[in-house]
Amino acid sequence: MLTTEDRKCSIIIFGATGDLAKRKLYPSIYNLYKKGKLSNNFAIIGAARRPWTNEVFRENVANSIHDANMNVDDNELDEFLNHFHYLSFDVTNVASYQELNELLSQLEETFSIPGNRIFYMAMAPQFFGTIASQLKSEGVTNTSGWNRLIIEKPFGHNLESAQKLNDELREAFDESAIYRIDHYLGKEMVQNIEVIRFANAMFEPLWNNRYISNVQITSSELLGVEDRGGYYDQSGALRDMVQNHMLQMVALLAMEPPIRLTTDEVRSEKIKALRALRPLESTDVEKYFVRGQYGPGIINEENVNGYRQESNVDPQSSTETFVAGKLLIDNFRWAGVPFYIRTGKRMTGKSTKIVIQFKELPMNLYYKSDDEKHPNLLIIHIQPDEGISIVLNGKKIGLSEGTTPVKLDYCSDCPDSINTPEAYEKLLYDCIIGDGTNFTHWDEVALSWNFVDKISNVWESTPAGDFPNYESGSMGPKVSDKLLAEDGFHWWPVIDDSAYSI
Ligand code: BG6
Repeated sequence: MLTTEDRKCSIIIFGATGDLAKRKLYPSIYNLYKKGKLSNNFAIIGAARRPWTNEVFRENVANSIHDANMNVDDNELDEFLNHFHYLSFDVTNVASYQELNELLSQLEETFSIPGNRIFYMAMAPQFFGTIASQLKSEGVTNTSGWNRLIIEKPFGHNLESAQKLNDELREAFDESAIYRIDHYLGKEMVQNIEVIRFANAMFEPLWNNRYISNVQITSSELLGVEDRGGYYDQSGALRDMVQNHMLQMVALLAMEPPIRLTTDEVRSEKIKALRALRPLESTDVEKYFVRGQYGPGIINEENVNGYRQESNVDPQSSTETFVAGKLLIDNFRWAGVPFYIRTGKRMTGKSTKIVIQFKELPMNLYYKSDDEKHPNLLIIHIQPDEGISIVLNGKKIGLSEGTTPVKLDYCSDCPDSINTPEAYEKLLYDCIIGDGTNFTHWDEVALSWNFVDKISNVWESTPAGDFPNYESGSMGPKVSDKLLAEDGFHWWPVIDDSAYSI
């Protein structure tokens, strides 16, 4: 049983002056504070290179909270900011860790915190290993409370580098104390996948290869690489989105029901699903995966640059900004059901949706021709809208014969305009209460890299001759349609929902 004492903690943010901390972490911590989820006994230490004072740090935190358009109470904010302290930090210098330890001890006394510490790595990944090992060697993790490490992506660049990083982290932290962030796992509707599946008699009996013909997961973005060209050009969509977010959604959709909702049981089912992914042979990569790169185009009536013209991107770059693929899961439940995934930047709109397409009935007397066939669909809207839709067949109204698709919608963030918490808010809270279910276990990371490495190895050794191959503002290269057409399917729309009903 979790006690209030267990929730009292200090959070040390490495990379406190960075973009992630500003955009996501400070507003999330503030929200937790406002909702009373954070005990009053907490301290936040911002660690970064810049020689900021506590005042400058607090001003920046306040600005980021105001920028996040939150309901801010100024008195409450001042009180909140008193818990924030800044430490100018050199990750390679032992003295910095000693200073950190001293500051932590002081703050733990001031705020009566029983030595519980969260180390949040929100900075350049090349330092993750160094920081973890110095935290241990300098005794910063040697407290009477618990110590946890939150680590942002990228978790390695391939399996080998991920393994190396993991070994470094494991020298200092147990697996159970490592919280690898995949922010998709903090999204309300991603968390809802398990509930939709395992709490509804309507779906679970149908959730297999006897009734489902294919599964489509799309995560499209309107934005390009913005100011992250330097990172992205080394990464590409496969590493940036598929290795983590897309495969995590596949695992949640494909896993067997866990025997309990504990971290270990849920993770072990996800791991089993990832283990069942059919590995790709190098010769299959081209058949099952499509890559794309955006060229110039028009978005919101404005001309936008192609990827190769973005700053910090090689003008000859063959990095992919779009990936579509067909995955097969070789187990009893899913044999023969393709899982199609698709993600890219500078597409028609921002949308993440999962479409489950059901098989046709063995006989349907209402169809006069193949053109009239309308399969049943379950659509899980992850973002920006959150909810589910079910597409059924109904009678055409009036005297005409035949059926028409009917779409039933449930919008989960609409009633009372519920503002669903930001993914980071939920994940931070989970870490504070020691719940690792919505973080990725090392085995999941390793299996995902193992799958993705096969593809990137082939892509890196065969130049993408036709790049750029899709216009900004489109749904990606045409070849991604072929991937489904060969199996007799097509991508269901994810931007304009009106296409589902007639
Ligand atoms: C991040 C990627 O992990 O996810 C970004 O690094 C991407 O490139 C982002 O834009 C997408 O997240 P969301 O929550 O906006 O769908």
